[in-house]
Amino acid sequence: MVIVAPSVLAARMAYVAADVRDVVRGGADWMHLDVMDGQFVPPISFGIGMVEAVRAECALPIDVHLMVVDPDRFVADAVRAGAQRITVHAEACTHLHRTVARIRSLGASPGVAINPATPFASLSAIVADIDLVLVMTVNPGYGGQSWIRSTVRKIRAARTCVDRLYAHDGVQRLVQVDGGIDVHTVGEAVRAGAHVVVAGSAVFGAAHRGQAIAALRTAADEVL
Ligand code: DX5
Ligand code: ZN
Repeated sequence: MVIVAPSVLAARMAYVAADVRDVVRGGADWMHLDVMDGQFVPPISFGIGMVEAVRAECALPIDVHLMVVDPDRFVADAVRAGAQRITVHAEACTHLHRTVARIRSLGASPGVAINPATPFASLSAIVADIDLVLVMTVNPGYGGQSWIRSTVRKIRAARTCVDRLYAHDGVQRLVQVDGGIDVHTVGEAVRAGAHVVVAGSAVFGAAHRGQAIAALRTAADEVL
């Protein structure tokens, strides 16, 4: 079963609470929050205050995607605000192993994201220490972009790697995809090995969010 994580970036900012409740009712599995700093990516989305606000509205796992330079600065605040999962970008960390260890020591589950141009091989020395690999299927920073099909082979490489590690240590690590996921692309992502699909505009932008989530699940189930 695929895990569906709607991205709050695509919610209506003036009605975040109502929109979050709506996707919770609609069957979301996780809530995905994109924190951006205007440096690692051009826009500034929202800060850790939004994590706290969403936490108050939903009991689902809160999955924070830090698109910020030097994310160490924010991990403690994110955990305090209620994040259970924190994903940092390999490209944004000078001491990635330390950052991952810090997230875990604070009691959250660490993930590492790679941009479309970053090879999966760059994670080979860290993947055993994390719980989630995020293969970005667009260049980060904006919702509503078209997915980059050439990322499929990285999804496959990530899945092969986490399955091999599982056979070795029995620890389940997840492969997540983020960017341009909709009913037309989710099948390909899941067939390539994604366990968790982030969807912003395809869920929050839909007239009926519950139906949009169900449609993603159906499209994913068809290939599983
Ligand atoms: C992009 C963000 C995504 C974004 C996805 O930088 O990390 O989580 O919200 O939006 P869609 O699903 O609209 O591509
Ligand atoms: Zn994201």
